[in-house]
This record gives sequence, structure tokens and C-alpha cells, in this order.
Amino acid sequence: MKISVIGSGYVGLVTGACLAELGHQVTCVDVDKLKIKLLSSGKIPIFEPGLEELVLRNVSQDRLAFSSAIASTVKKSEVIFIAVGTPSRADGEADVSAVESVAKEIAKAIKGPSGKAGAAYKVIVNKSTVPVGMGDIVTKLLIKNGVAKNRFAVVSNPEFLREGSALDDFMHPDRIVIGAQDKRAYEVITELYRPLNAHIIFTSIKSAELIKYASNAFLATKISFINEIANVCERVGSDVSEVADAVGLDKRIGRAFLSAGLGWGGSCFPKDVSALIHLARAKGYNPEILESVLNVNQAQVEMFVGKIKKTLKNLNGKVITVLGLSFKPNTDDLREAPSLKVIELLLSEGAKLKAYDPIVKNVDQLKNKGMISLADDPYEALQGSQALVIVTEWPEFTELDLKKAKQLMQKPYVFDGRNTLNAKRVKEAGFKYFGIGK
Ligand code: UDX
Repeated sequence: MKISVIGSGYVGLVTGACLAELGHQVTCVDVDKLKIKLLSSGKIPIFEPGLEELVLRNVSQDRLAFSSAIASTVKKSEVIFIAVGTPSRADGEADVSAVESVAKEIAKAIKGPSGKAGAAYKVIVNKSTVPVGMGDIVTKLLIKNGVAKNRFAVVSNPEFLREGSALDDFMHPDRIVIGAQDKRAYEVITELYRPLNAHIIFTSIKSAELIKYASNAFLATKISFINEIANVCERVGSDVSEVADAVGLDKRIGRAFLSAGLGWGGSCFPKDVSALIHLARAKGYNPEILESVLNVNQAQVEMFVGKIKKTLKNLNGKVITVLGLSFKPNTDDLREAPSLKVIELLLSEGAKLKAYDPIVKNVDQLKNKGMISLADDPYEALQGSQALVIVTEWPEFTELDLKKAKQLMQKPYVFDGRNTLNAKRVKEAGFKYFGIGK
């Protein structure tokens, strides 16, 4: 099928490249002309394992192209994915202005007398995470801007892609959710995904929109739950990893997303939990569980830095090493990363920070980037340090040469924000080890 994907960010680019891989004819559109130029020359502006090779292969086989001309692209497409960002406003509400302006652009391009009636039918797919009810808003926008009702349908098809494993998540989904009003649109999208042989859920648009929020909010809840248990563990002498392993063996619970640590960050959980809280409140319901999920998550980082302050006493002028900046391993994404909060709190105490991350080499978005030096390897970052602070559980940190680290550091303190090191080994190497829930 001929497909356009409007918005070539994490979701749009992965969706476009994977749909091309399935054999469709895809054009990814973005308003950012520089990004389109980069992509057309085979340069991928984000770090996502396997994505560069997938894009290059599909571009070379003429199944994937890039353009900043939305009208001409949309005109020749049967299915149009809206995959633009829906960032949080200050009060948590999802900012859907980009979705609305794309919908208007699409209407401008496809309205007016249809050519051959059949070919003119288009399915507009909300891939972006949007508040419940957005499908109706997009439908009304298209009609208001001149598109005849019988020439299109709006579908909600939320994504469940994790950064760092997005391609695999797309090609092997647990389920594909399609929210549609009319059968014809459902059949078009079912046809589009047929090569995946996946379990397809057909539901209403509003249910599909809420399925996305409920899925992310539940995962975030699981994490805040185990972090709460970790805080109890520290006070009663239990070990949260042992607790999580045994609790997770109950197949009704499952071990995934029960790793205690500095909590969740990234571009989705914070945005989606806040948007769902805002939506519930706007409809007159107070989502107490979700508010606690958010509060526990925020407190987790403050408690962790509190441990560092309590141990080192006065941080002023002391060198502290921060290992890991990205919000989780296998990505370069700093959005809402716990590292940003840890850095801000440590700098506010006058600490001198030396950081290392295997992928993140650009810290321009750090507010006080002048006060933090980026090292090329973890040992350079550990030179003269009073504390080794692990914020992101990059696999290479478990291989750290602890003897070498001890020689380089001034004080033997390890604060492990992701319980990623083996506490016994760390203590045997002469360090004082602080984990989460240990
Ligand atoms: C998430 C959802 O998993 C995905 O389905 C959705 O489409 C987008 O949001 P992502 O944000 O990329 O994906 O990362 P994920 O792997 O879910 O981790 C989210 C955060 O939770 C990270 O900050 C991670 O460090 C944290 N986390 C994860 C924990 O703190 N403990 C865990 O056990 C798992």
C-alpha cells in the first residue's frame, strides 16, 4: 500500500521503516527540512539499534522515501499516519496542537472533488499518543476543512515501542490495537499489518486511545510499586531484588518492570501518566493511584541524592562521578532522564561532576552544562572522585574494573541507582556500597 507517515521522530521513523520492510511504499514526512535532508542522505538523527540499516536497505530498494512536502505525499497515499509529538503542557495536559495542524494540512491536501471515487478513500491513523476523544476531534477537523465524510475514516492505532528495542517491538508485537468506527477502515489497517501475523484487537476509537494510556500507566505503576517496596526493604532489612524475583514468579504478576531504582523517565511514562491524570480530573474523577505513582517516582531521585549527601556530608567542591546519562540503556535519549534531576541536585550542593555515558556525548540540554565535565571513559570520570554514582544501568558498568576504580578514587563510596553492580564484589573491592532497597 501507499503510506505516508507525518512526523519522523522516534515513532514515525521506526513505523515508516518497518512498514517499508513489510513491503509497503512509504514516505516519511517532517516539517524539519534539515532532518529530512539528513534522512535522505542515510543519516539517522536518533540512536535506535538496527534502524540505520533498516532505513538504508528500504531506501535503496525504493520502498522508503523522505519529504517535507506534506500535500503531494498525502495526495498519493491510501493510509496516512499522524506520528507527531504530543508533549506535556505545564499542567500535564497533552499538547495536541501538532496533531491538529497536521490534520488541517491533510484536509487541505485531500479535500475537493475526488478523482476516481474508490482510490480517493483515505484512512487517517492516529499513531501519536493522544487523549481520549482526539479521534473525534480529528474527524471533525477534516470535515470542517472540506473533506467529505464518506471519503475518509480516522483510526486510532497506538504504538507500544520501547526505545532501544523498537524494531523488535514493531515486528513482534504482543498485540496490534485498532480503534475504528467503520469496518472498511478496520479492513484497510488489518491488510496493512497482515504480514506481521499479529494478534489484532478491533475496538472503538476511544477504547484504543485509553488502552495506550492504561498500558503505560500500569507499567509505571509497577515500577513505583516496587520502588515503594524497596523503601520498605531498606527499613526492615529485606533485599528488594530477592523480593521482586519471588513476587515476579507469580504468573499473575510477572517479573518485568519490577526492578527498583531511580524510577522511570523517558519521553513516554512521565508524559502519559500526567496526561491521564489531567484527563481524569478534567472529567471529574480524581485518579489517586496515578497521583501516588507520580509522587513516588519523583521522590525516588530525591531520596537517592539524600543518601549521597548524608554519607559525604558537605558536597561543596567535592568531585562526584556520574555513570550513565540516558534515561535507560541502549538509547541516547535524555528526555526526562533521572540523570538530569540527580545532576541538578548534586550541582546545587556545590559538587563538581564528572560524567560518562557510552552513547550520550552531547549535554547541551543540561541546564548548567558548564559545571559538568564529560569523560571519554568511566576511569577518566573516576579520577579523584569521592563517589561513584550509577544512574543508568549500561551493561558495561557491570564489567567495571573495581580495583582500578578504587585506585583512581579519593573515597570508596558507590551509590548504585539501578542495583546494577554486585554488592558483594563491590564490598570485597574495599568500597562502601549503597543500592536501592538493599
Ligand atoms: C515505554 C513503554 O514500555 C512502551 O511500551 C511505550 O510505547 C513507550 O514507553 P520506554 O519509555 O522506551 O517505553 O522505556 P521502558 O523500557 O518502558 O522504560 C521506561 C522507564 O522505566 C525507564 O526510565 C526505565 O529505566 C524505567 N524502568 C523500567 C524501571 O525503573 N524499572 C523497570 O523495571 C523497568
